[in-house]
Amino acid sequence: MTTKIEFFRHDLGDAELRSVAEVLAGPILTTGETVGKFEQLFADYLGRRHALGLTSCTGGLHISLLALGVGPGDEVITTPLTFIATAAAVAECGAKPVFVDVEPHTGNIDAGRVEAAITPRTRAILPVHLYGQMCDMHALRAIADRHRLAIVEDAAHCIEGERDGVRVGELADTACFSFYATKNLTCGEGGAVVTDDADLAAKLRLLRLHGMTKTAADRAREGFQPWDMTILGWKYNMDNIQAALLLPQMDRLERNADLRERLAQRYYDHLSGIEGLSWPRVLPGRHGRHLFTIWVDPQLRNDVIRQLQSRGIPLLVNYRAIHQHAFFRDTYGYRPGEFPIAEKIGESTISLPFYPAMPEDHVDIVAGALREALEQLQENRQQQPAETY
Ligand SMILES: Cc1ncc(COP(=O)(O)O)c(C=O)c1O
Repeated sequence: MTTKIEFFRHDLGDAELRSVAEVLAGPILTTGETVGKFEQLFADYLGRRHALGLTSCTGGLHISLLALGVGPGDEVITTPLTFIATAAAVAECGAKPVFVDVEPHTGNIDAGRVEAAITPRTRAILPVHLYGQMCDMHALRAIADRHRLAIVEDAAHCIEGERDGVRVGELADTACFSFYATKNLTCGEGGAVVTDDADLAAKLRLLRLHGMTKTAADRAREGFQPWDMTILGWKYNMDNIQAALLLPQMDRLERNADLRERLAQRYYDHLSGIEGLSWPRVLPGRHGRHLFTIWVDPQLRNDVIRQLQSRGIPLLVNYRAIHQHAFFRDTYGYRPGEFPIAEKIGESTISLPFYPAMPEDHVDIVAGALREALEQLQENRQQQPAETY
């Protein structure tokens, strides 16, 4: 019998079924009390004053930027080594994503390069805690304060992180989270935004639901009352079914983070003995451990992926630097070579199977297959006749 290795598997089960059944037994499927309960727990976990449940992290980034006044003609500084949604949210506001290259040792935005990218049009900095490791938020906050810029954190990969004594969202105007199918908390599709600023929270509340002053839950609680549309809003409100899926997972958040940390350490034990491999440096503090990524020689990377996939080991690439995508190239004129560190990491990186309940022997199998593939590819390369000119 062959072992089926999975890239990710959610751990939703009986607790989530019971929780969803409770919502289905009640009258309100859309945004209501269950969303409110989740928002409270999530805000408490992060130590933030306000949390709002949303349908995605992308929506959270979009309305955060809008709420902070970002619009056409503005610029937002971000990283090219991220998922496209980070920069797409800037474009959705009519603003321009201005990329800054990343640190070679972590892949996170290089705070040391941010100031040089600031122009009179810059309104905000949008750091991404890549793979779950936090950016240098103290440095970014200091720059933002000097230039009166907002900070919106893309924390799609990082709920549990801590660095230099700060948690996610602590030094930002808002932080946005994803509950997409493979994230550390998931309801299939979903997201949240947190903030300590009550005015910003009130604005975000309007922006997530059409700019309406009353919701379906208000109507159910208070009966019909006149309402107004005060601003142009979007349709990003989390519903009670999504919240019901998330609520029981809050009890497992810490345990699952510890399980992922153990698996990461097991990977490191294996990988440190394999030639030709490196990986993002782990800094002091707490890594949110969303993805487990390694770096290989870019010339071998695609062959390594092919070999492992042919053995039934699923892999991903997170990420090809996004200024290379046609949209960002064609819309803003970005060119290959502009952000060489992000490009090199993008060409080197492989994400390995990684999720809390991953059996430890699957880590051993993946690492073993990786060792064999690299040994074989390096041997093949040595055997190729040297080019002569
Ligand atoms: C870094 C990053 N930002 C933003 C997003 C968008 O999240 P969502 O799918 O919840 O909109 C993702 C999703 O994978 C992501 O990885």
